[in-house]
Amino acid sequence: MTINEQSLAEKYESYFKIGAAINEETLERDRELLAHHFNSITAENDMKPEILHPEKDTFDFEVADSYVNFAKENNMAMRGHTLVWHNQTPDWFFEDAEGNTVGREVLIERMKDHIEKVMTRYKDEVLFWDVTNEVIEDHEEYLLRKSKWLEIIGDDFIEIAYKHAMKVNPKAKLFYNDYHATKPAKRKKIVELITNLREKGVRIDGVGLQGHWNVAEPAVEEIREALDVYSKMDLDIHITELDVSVFVSEDKRRDLKEPLPGMMEEQANRYDTIFSLFREYKEHIESVTFWGVTDYYTWLDHFVGKERTTWPFLFDAESRPKKGFYKVIDF
Ligand code: GLA
Repeated sequence: MTINEQSLAEKYESYFKIGAAINEETLERDRELLAHHFNSITAENDMKPEILHPEKDTFDFEVADSYVNFAKENNMAMRGHTLVWHNQTPDWFFEDAEGNTVGREVLIERMKDHIEKVMTRYKDEVLFWDVTNEVIEDHEEYLLRKSKWLEIIGDDFIEIAYKHAMKVNPKAKLFYNDYHATKPAKRKKIVELITNLREKGVRIDGVGLQGHWNVAEPAVEEIREALDVYSKMDLDIHITELDVSVFVSEDKRRDLKEPLPGMMEEQANRYDTIFSLFREYKEHIESVTFWGVTDYYTWLDHFVGKERTTWPFLFDAESRPKKGFYKVIDF
């Protein structure tokens, strides 16, 4: 593939980093495009606990190492995703050899060991970490999501995780990452969580807004309000998992094989709006990462029970720039 266009990452040099989540297939397929247009990467799955630490005494860093090397060779930053999460974390963390639930102290030790081994291995290369992911509950009554971490350790598991991460690599910036981070109710809980943690002496440097959005939702004003709130808390903002589906949430169609006329224009205009907004907040936004590279592959198309083609990115399935690309780069 030859790359004719100006580099997106270069164009945004004085604004924020432009990132992409990768897997082995997309890296192989779009290596050149990634190196040209992006200056940050995230492992879509390959740095999650189930991949890096499948058994208590087994680590598998092979794929993660190859991403880190790719990032290094191409002068890209790398976001570490993620250390403590309720998903994609193997059961052995929570069980003893007989399959019984472990106690608080054992789980704390295992969590700390995981954080330490992973952060230490990449201490010079991975300087942004989603230390915890999605620990907040969506239902109104509770602040924290029910999880084995919460159940076994108690609500200080979050504090312990950040304090340990802080100790293991003082150079790394520590993030809290979540979806629906612009929705007022969830946003308030994120603010509450971070404020509580800071009162306990925890250093949280930034907030990750996942950004699984679509052509109309969330409303741009809602995004702006969230950016305002987080900026005022002196948090670095990373948009961590951006994808802009062509379907609004009530549109349940699953049969489209090609985008309808007008869909790509609508998406391009939406990208224009959100990137203009991001540029306004360049003092606070440090990186904007897409949760994929091209429309060839996105997790959204395989969402169990809702499989359909969603065409969410700036490059089409043949890795050609879409209308949205030109809107984002021409300003
Ligand atoms: C969340 C996680 C990501 C990814 C997506 C969808 O947003 O943070 O790592 O798993 O779900 O797969």
